Amino acid sequence: MYSEKVMDHFSNPRNVGEIVNPDGVGEIGNAKCGDIMKMYLKIENNIIVDAKFKTFGCGAAIATSSMSTELIIGKTVDEALSITNKSVAEALDGLPPAKMHCSNLAEEAIRSAIEDYKRKNGLLEDGDGCIACGRRCDDIHHHEDED
Ligand code: FES
Repeated sequence: MYSEKVMDHFSNPRNVGEIVNPDGVGEIGNAKCGDIMKMYLKIENNIIVDAKFKTFGCGAAIATSSMSTELIIGKTVDEALSITNKSVAEALDGLPPAKMHCSNLAEEAIRSAIEDYKRKNGLLEDGDGCIACGRRCDDIHHHEDED
């Protein structure tokens, strides 16, 4: 049911942990299942030089969190923002349809952490973030409705 890559990233997740003095932090909860992902970014000259995560969630959430950190390290902030839950799932050779929603956590946590970085550095532009709550309401579906 799960690809070898999913099993690999679930059993041996990359970049687990926290970054001391991160440049951006994002925390996203999935209101439907209660799973939570926290993403820490270190950003230098607009490049993501390090990313670490903590995920309290299912195996698919952990595997997508792990893969998403590998995908964004070395990328510019804008390149990282173009990563979607689908591209994370594709990099893992797919997820079962019933688990695709789990990959939303990774996409949303990356966006949330980058928005935190932009907010702290006065770089937020119109259209960034959820205007209603600044993505602090813990409901990713709410944000999907807003966007
Ligand atoms: Fe909650 Fe997978 S079941 S993220």
